[in-house]
Parts: sequence; structure tokens; C-alpha cells
Amino acid sequence: MQRKMQEQELLKLIDRKKIPGHVAIIMDGNGRWARERGLPRSAGHKQGVESVRAIVRCSSQLEINVLTLFAFSTENWKRPPWEVNYLMNLPEQYLTSELPELVKNNVRVHFVGDPGRLPQQVCKAIGKGLEATRENTGMILNFALNYGSRAEITQAARKITQDVLAGKINSEFSESQFSAYLYTGRLRIPDPDLLIRTSGEYRISNFLLWQLAYSELWFTEVYWPDFNRMHLLQAIFDYQQRTRRFGSS
Ligand code: IPE
Ligand code: IPE
Ligand code: MG
Repeated sequence: MQRKMQEQELLKLIDRKKIPGHVAIIMDGNGRWARERGLPRSAGHKQGVESVRAIVRCSSQLEINVLTLFAFSTENWKRPPWEVNYLMNLPEQYLTSELPELVKNNVRVHFVGDPGRLPQQVCKAIGKGLEATRENTGMILNFALNYGSRAEITQAARKITQDVLAGKINSEFSESQFSAYLYTGRLRIPDPDLLIRTSGEYRISNFLLWQLAYSELWFTEVYWPDFNRMHLLQAIFDYQQRTRRFGSS
């Protein structure tokens, strides 16, 4: 009840004309959420999916243009096989249950990352999501899976080098020409306006290093499975109080 009231209050304070166009989230703290409850880490990941459902719904209602969710990093392969397997089942689970609603809400599913090492079943699920929502024109729900920023920049450098050697692009290429070779550039996704990281970790963990150059950063101690609409509204409200200068005086 109290939460609902706080939500209503925050909603009134938020300027609907200044909603961040692109919100990126490092969804962290599932394991610690579970440990604090004496549960296996998988229980934290399961509950984390519920937060994804709620935050996607809320973001699309707020008319955020792009929501990028960091779901699995190129470094997360270091985890035990059972946990990697568990995490790899989640995109399919989420999309299977949520796809009809995403379609109905005009949400368009996207993907950034290296599909190379992803199990076939994950690629299939994502492919199905992409296909089913291809014509949608509302919020882009962008899953970062097997995503690593250094890998992304390295593949961009490799591709642009090939194109320079093939004479397709001048070797004096610009920043914006280079950024078109990033995963986000190929999808024409603008840079994040707001980055949220949960769980009290104050680092970027190889996420969107290039694209975050001028993003506003918002950190919370809250673990991802506890992150709800109110936290998102609070982050957006705080974002709206900031002055973005992009280097100007
Ligand atoms: C986020 O929670 C999920 C992924 C990184 C895939 P963690 O699993 O990292 O949870 P903590 O950080 O160990 O609490
Ligand atoms: C970042 O969280 C990756 C995702 C949220 C998918 P991690 O838990 O992997 O990051 P570190 O290891 O704490 O930096
Ligand atoms: Mg973590």
C-alpha cells in the first residue's frame, strides 16, 4: 500500500517529456539475494526474471525508447557449468511466457553480444523473439547476452580494418563511422542516457564502454531480485535532476 503511494508520488514528480531515451541496466546481486535467504543461487536468478518482467512492463509504459538489459557477460562463462546452464535457460523461459504480451505492447526485441558461443536453443529463442516483434514500433527491449564491451570493440576494429583494406572506407574514418561497427551501431541504437547498476557494486564490468561515455550513472544497494518499479521511477527522477553538460561549461 505504502509502496503504491510512493509510486504515485514519484510518478507525479517525473517529467514525462524528459524520460531518458535509452536506459541500460546491469542486473546484479541475484546470488547474494539468494544467499541471504539461505537459498541456492538459482533461486536468485529465478526471482531476477520476475524483476525483468516488472521492469520491462514499467519501462514500456513510461515510453522509454530503448531498454538494454545485461543478462550474461563474456566473463560469466567462468561460472560453474550448472549455473551457466541455468542462466542460459532463462532467455527462452522469459520469452516463451512473455512474447504474447511483448507483441501486444508493441515492444521490439533486440540482441547485442556474440552469438557464436551461445547454445543453439538460446539463439533460437532470441531469433523467435526478434521475428515475432520485427514490425513493432514501440520500446526496443535489448538483451545483452554473451556481451563484452572489449569483444565488441575488438570485432568492430577487425571489421573496419577489413573494410579499409577493401577500399570500402577511408582509413581516416570518424568516431561515428567507427561506432556504426559496434553491435549497437549496426542496430542504430543511441547511447544510453542512464545506466543503472544494482547490488552495491560500483563498476561497469565490461558493459558498453564506448557507449557509456556521457551516460548518467545511478547505483543502488538493492539486489536485482528486489528491484521494482519504484526504484526505476526513483532512478528516472534523480536522472531528471541532473544537468548533462557533455563537456560544455
Ligand atoms: C546477476 O547476479 C546475474 C548475472 C551476472 C548473470 P549475480 O549472479 O552476479 O549475483 P551476485 O553478484 O553473485 O550476487
Ligand atoms: C555483470 O555482473 C554482468 C551481468 C549483470 C550480466 P557480474 O556479477 O558478472 O559482474 P562482476 O563480476 O561483479 O564485475
Ligand atoms: Mg554479480
